[in-house]
Amino acid sequence: MSTFTEAPAYRALQAHHDAMRNVHLRELFANDATRGERLTLDPSLHSGQAVLGLYFDYSKQRVTDETLKLLIALAHERGVAEKRDAMFRGDKINVTEKRAVLHIALRAPRDAVILVDGENVVPQVHAVLDKMSAFSNRVRGGEWLGATGKRIRNVVNIGIGGSDLGPVMAYEALKHYSARDMTFRFVSNVDGTDFAEAVQDLNAEETLFIVASKTFTTLETMTNAQTARNWFLARIGDESAIAKHFVAVSTNQAQVEKFGIDPANMFGFWDWVGGRYSMDSAIGLSTMLAIGPGNFRDMLDGFHAMDEHFRTAPFEQNLPVLMGLLAVWNNNFLNAETVAVLPYEQYLKRFPAYLQQLTMESNGKRVTRQGEMITYQTGPIYWGEPGTNGQHSFYQLIHQGTRLIPCDFIAFSQTLNPLPPHHDLLMANVLAQAEALAFGKTADEVRAEGIPEWLVPHRVFPGNRPSTTILADKLDPATLGKLVALYEHSVFVQGVIWDIDSFDQWGVELGKVLAKKIIGELETGDAELRHDSSTNALIRKYRKARGAWNVKQPAPKN
Ligand code: F6P
Repeated sequence: MSTFTEAPAYRALQAHHDAMRNVHLRELFANDATRGERLTLDPSLHSGQAVLGLYFDYSKQRVTDETLKLLIALAHERGVAEKRDAMFRGDKINVTEKRAVLHIALRAPRDAVILVDGENVVPQVHAVLDKMSAFSNRVRGGEWLGATGKRIRNVVNIGIGGSDLGPVMAYEALKHYSARDMTFRFVSNVDGTDFAEAVQDLNAEETLFIVASKTFTTLETMTNAQTARNWFLARIGDESAIAKHFVAVSTNQAQVEKFGIDPANMFGFWDWVGGRYSMDSAIGLSTMLAIGPGNFRDMLDGFHAMDEHFRTAPFEQNLPVLMGLLAVWNNNFLNAETVAVLPYEQYLKRFPAYLQQLTMESNGKRVTRQGEMITYQTGPIYWGEPGTNGQHSFYQLIHQGTRLIPCDFIAFSQTLNPLPPHHDLLMANVLAQAEALAFGKTADEVRAEGIPEWLVPHRVFPGNRPSTTILADKLDPATLGKLVALYEHSVFVQGVIWDIDSFDQWGVELGKVLAKKIIGELETGDAELRHDSSTNALIRKYRKARGAWNVKQPAPKN
């Protein structure tokens, strides 16, 4: 296969871009009265699957019918369909780790057959789901009691990266559906403050810790898990009580046992589930405890509906394919460096943070799958905040700054908390922002408002700033599943176009190795330092100034 920038479709897109670089969205809309309805996808209409219910309006992207035709040709040329089918088949498409990539198996129906090395993995998936459901029902129903006979009221998930961001995002997103008589906390940072604050008002007798780690070796998680164990034993004083208060989610049974958690209290998953693709595996145990197995199943069904859409819909009507292609267009032809994800839904406040790992750990790569140096831009920077807060913070730059920042607006027609007039105001704002970004305000329009000439340049909005609006009926478990799967598969499409391995993450390794070395140097205060002069000086300064960090903690109060 030729490299991305040598592909005939890339060259055709480059020429097309040169021809249309100065075309304004104003013009595109003025020349086509149907554009706002035509350049949208509502898969329930297009593919006869009345299940998706996500209205995807990309008419405010800087594309024409010709752009779309060429982008779709690019997808065919780069082998998106073949690679997608290889993923669904269980081929080892994570080439650097020689692993299958099968998060789609996590939400497959019970009777599906998906083979890894000749073995159908679907029964294993459902066995774990059944075990999670039985456990969640016992905890939620007050059957699973703490060691002193008290009901479990608090769940603390200890994990980091994919073992934290998915669970915390899903908990926040689906809080409306959660057991309100239970408290959920999430500890991820190795900064002791994270743990200390998470448990400071919790009663150990009523607390369940979930130690969530695919590898069960991650420094942050293991340190927090050990601290949790010490915290718990200092209050309960009985090793045998651990069995009622600690469960593990991992692929590594040996390490789980070594830590002291009974394998009976372990919920497994598999090496073909990437950390950032694991929120619908056993890593979602905290989510299931919060919303119950029925709602969790609905979420999985939402994921599966999007998987099926991605697998079967023609590219022209395929949400993840189009989303991925538009991202490539903005990234490689319009030279946008970032993407702002702007959910107009308070419950999605952690969605941008979740997407940061999904997108940037997946596509932040600089060599091809074959290890050749890449000469084009790959994964953009994702960031964002829920609306309307961002409007009073960084939107200034999106509207009038010098950079082009494509935006994903996410909104829901129905609110889960009807408090008139809030929802209409929220919706008015999201619609207004997308409109303002696309069409802006010209100097003549500013002058017509009587603005003095010297102020006119400051009051002009250039417009032509691309955005997509995703509108769903309401935020429920199934819709969340569809939304996450949409981004997962869009990331996949982009990775295929750029010819990168979207499923490894070697870039996190070097820092881990260096940190291990420095930990030793901090512990033995006089060890000889062989770093660069800056790191050496910082270590010396820290050694001197750290104070009494290792002074024994006072005995805990019960
Ligand atoms: O940061 C690297 C990483 O491996 C992520 O990909 C992963 O989600 C996270 O660490 C946590 O890993 P684990 O679940 O093995 O503790």
